[in-house]
Amino acid sequence: ARQASAVRPVEQAARILRSGGLVAFPTETVYGLGADAANDEAVRRVFAAKGRPADHPLIVHFAAPEDAARWAARWSDDAEKLAAAFWPGPLTLIVPKAAHVSDVVTGGHSTVGVRVPDHPVAQSLLRSFGGGLAAPSANRFGQVSPTTAAHVAIELADRVDLILDGGACRVGVESTIVDLSGETPRLLRPGGVSLESLEATLERPVSIGGDTAAPGTLPSHYAPRARVLAVAAEDLQSTLAREAASGAVVRELALPADPAAAARALYAALRELDEVGVDVAVVALPDPSGLGRAVADRLLRAAAPRPQ
Ligand code: TXA
Ligand code: MG
Repeated sequence: ARQASAVRPVEQAARILRSGGLVAFPTETVYGLGADAANDEAVRRVFAAKGRPADHPLIVHFAAPEDAARWAARWSDDAEKLAAAFWPGPLTLIVPKAAHVSDVVTGGHSTVGVRVPDHPVAQSLLRSFGGGLAAPSANRFGQVSPTTAAHVAIELADRVDLILDGGACRVGVESTIVDLSGETPRLLRPGGVSLESLEATLERPVSIGGDTAAPGTLPSHYAPRARVLAVAAEDLQSTLAREAASGAVVRELALPADPAAAARALYAALRELDEVGVDVAVVALPDPSGLGRAVADRLLRAAAPRPQ
């Protein structure tokens, strides 16, 4: 038994990645489904495992900011400032892609998303592997992102070569995505780094969303099977009463008042609704400041009308 453990899981994972396999690994935000970003065949396997459309680009993860900058055709002052302030950490930068970056990773776009995660297991995996890891959240397309190794196993056990267990994710919602490829910085997805702290670092305003056709801005996403009603706090009780009167199994989705704690608890709470067979979950929308913006965003997506 001692000899069997002589190969550390991280080294075994790096070897699997070098041979074109798939490894699920923890980050501080959510678990990722990783493949060698320089190996098109491996990256195609990620799309297949998730059931994800090929035009939805993947984020490429690196051990250090210098490595990320090498995948950009242009590394602007804004990119430098944000990388210095928030990496390693829950921030993804969209930058013009370098010539060597594959269209399979970028979904045919001329930009690439890059990020340096700060989870110790992700860091040691990236160092051991040495290159860039293309990694979407390790869930089936349209499902809630996994924040524990057990969540990954439920959705992808038979489609991944190895799952590294790094415990429950500290942030609990995905990275903030900022598009730096245009004239002005644009927030594409609120996440673990707040809009306020981005603007403070850049010393200028960051515009919000905008392009509704952009991948990842699908209205319905992060959705449990239960119907979710996201309402203003003052409407919570009346909504619960109204829904209960219809005879459905109704429950309040109660989240901690502290926005960081709410983010950490959010995805496990959404999964639990389905485990206990709730028909309708009613949740009070948090104030969209700080991490509350990411929590409100995910709740509104969970509540959005579902495609048939
Ligand atoms: O926290 C995270 O970002 C996690 C962990 C694993 O790092 N990853 C993650 O990946 O959430 P994914 O694939 O589930 O979501 C990435 C989002 C997608 O909506 C994708 O469309 C967007 O990032 N994205 C990636 N590259 C892009 C690009 N070049 N232009 C615009 N959007 C991009
Ligand atoms: Mg995802």
